Amino acid sequence: MNIILIGAPGAGKGTYAKFIKEKYGFPHISTGDLLREEVAKESELGVEARKYMSEGKLVPDDLVIRVLKSRIGLPDCKNGFLLDGFPRNVLQARELEKFLDVSVVLSLVVPKEVILDRLSGRRTCRNCKAIFHVRNIPPKKEGVCDKCGGELYQRDDEKPEVIENRLKIYEEQTKPLLDYYSKKGLLYEIDAKYPISEVDKILSQIDAVLEEKSREEKAKKLIWR
Ligand code: AP5
Repeated sequence: MNIILIGAPGAGKGTYAKFIKEKYGFPHISTGDLLREEVAKESELGVEARKYMSEGKLVPDDLVIRVLKSRIGLPDCKNGFLLDGFPRNVLQARELEKFLDVSVVLSLVVPKEVILDRLSGRRTCRNCKAIFHVRNIPPKKEGVCDKCGGELYQRDDEKPEVIENRLKIYEEQTKPLLDYYSKKGLLYEIDAKYPISEVDKILSQIDAVLEEKSREEKAKKLIWR
């Protein structure tokens, strides 16, 4: 099954992608993480991507498609995967269709004021990429990852003016994808506004969609046998 997670910056894509990965075993592929790895390595692609990421702009399509293709060419992706942060515009969606079938698109719906709170307090592990929040999901020890002991840091693109720009770009370029996938019958909306104390209300919606889709895929395979 090939799953796409769509949502505004801070909607919780990375957080719930980890849940899906643990429960269903699909590799989690975040184009944001792939690009940040290139930036950290100071590769040619990373140096170019950084110029856009630090301002909250989308990285040019050809660069993102290049990092994505090399990642999904790895053997762990052959039975499906979870895409977080791709596609980000209709051109990327069309490009994706040239090399794979999308099974389902989960759209995380969260009001803007909740998003701003989530982004302003996020901390990410430099080592294992685990995600925390200074108030909502605090680590046991400040600045230290509970899972691997790595250093927690605040991303470069979490400055207020950059966040505003990322939200604007989401509205202008990524939101049209909701209509695009809805017309194809692939879109499922997940009401993801709940606080972490009520996270089961979010996870149960995701579970319900993925269970239904797995049943459908199994039934299709039986018909084709
Ligand atoms: P990317 O890394 O994809 O960032 P994003 O889409 O802006 O999303 P975020 O990672 O900021 O948020 P998220 O939805 O994963 O939320 P999270 O789970 O962390 O992209 C970064 C940049 O790379 C882009 O700006 C662009 O430049 C470039 N890029 C990437 N892909 C590209 C593409 N396809 N094309 C072109 N350019 C591309 O949660 C947020 C916080 O909320 C966390 O602290 C979390 O702990 C907390 N939280 C989560 N759920 C809850 C809850 N229920 N209650 C309370 N707190 C919660």
